[in-house]
Amino acid sequence: MSAKTLAEMAVEVLSTKDGRTKTALSRTHAASWAAARGAAGRDIPLGHAAPPQRPARPDRPELLDPSDVPRRRPGSDKGRIAMLHAVAHIELNAVDLHWDIIARYTDTPMPIGFYDDWVKSADEESKHFNLICDCLEEMGSHYGALPAHAGMWRAAEDTAGDLMGRLAVVPMVLEARGLDVTPGMIAIFERAGATRAVEAMQVIYAEEVHHVAYGSKWFHFLCGRHDLDPKPVFHDLVRRYFHGALKPPFNEEKRAEAGIPPDFYWPLTESATTPG
Ligand SMILES: [Fe+2]
Ligand SMILES: [Fe+2]
Repeated sequence: MSAKTLAEMAVEVLSTKDGRTKTALSRTHAASWAAARGAAGRDIPLGHAAPPQRPARPDRPELLDPSDVPRRRPGSDKGRIAMLHAVAHIELNAVDLHWDIIARYTDTPMPIGFYDDWVKSADEESKHFNLICDCLEEMGSHYGALPAHAGMWRAAEDTAGDLMGRLAVVPMVLEARGLDVTPGMIAIFERAGATRAVEAMQVIYAEEVHHVAYGSKWFHFLCGRHDLDPKPVFHDLVRRYFHGALKPPFNEEKRAEAGIPPDFYWPLTESATTPG
């Protein structure tokens, strides 16, 4: 039996700086959780632990304002390395986001399945980061070699006190956006004959649908618990916590598969939003 609680495991991952070390620890803890859940009488308690306001990150990459990060042109090896580097950065952030949702809201009683879902997601994000890092290294680069977007943790900070807001903005908006853009990225790497990157992104694409679906599932669960109408609540929370309009084109098929109907996101696009 593990001596650590799940919340303590989460904080341990969040407090680890190096990317590969963070993902290795994340995968070890996820495996312990899954093993304990599969064996009667070996439950790991959820516990309580204070997650850091911001997760520990490596000294490199340098974090820049999004407008200062150089544009990526996919027509060259250099451009494709920059795209993969940006994906690696998103995946590492996602590892922390999933462990953060585990540790941050333990005062809100949730069914154990909520934790199963996010531990599994954190494990998958760890795998995604490693797969993309492998591609970068095969191309003679590595995570940390280029600057990356600062401010990716903003959604987490903005929703630190609001679990429904976190579910609305992180899995149901940000991760759903990943479903919209990934097919186009896969096509770019297919054209370049970059088989390893294509395979990595196909894994990511298949698994991210589930993360969005977990978000939608637990958002609707909480709406049901509080007798709330999910659609207007979703719109209110996204307008409160997400800065900017949602951008079409949307991957309506995958969004539907993940339990997000069109009337959740279309009213949040620019043309549907009145300025001010
Ligand atoms: Fe991912
Ligand atoms: Fe994800």
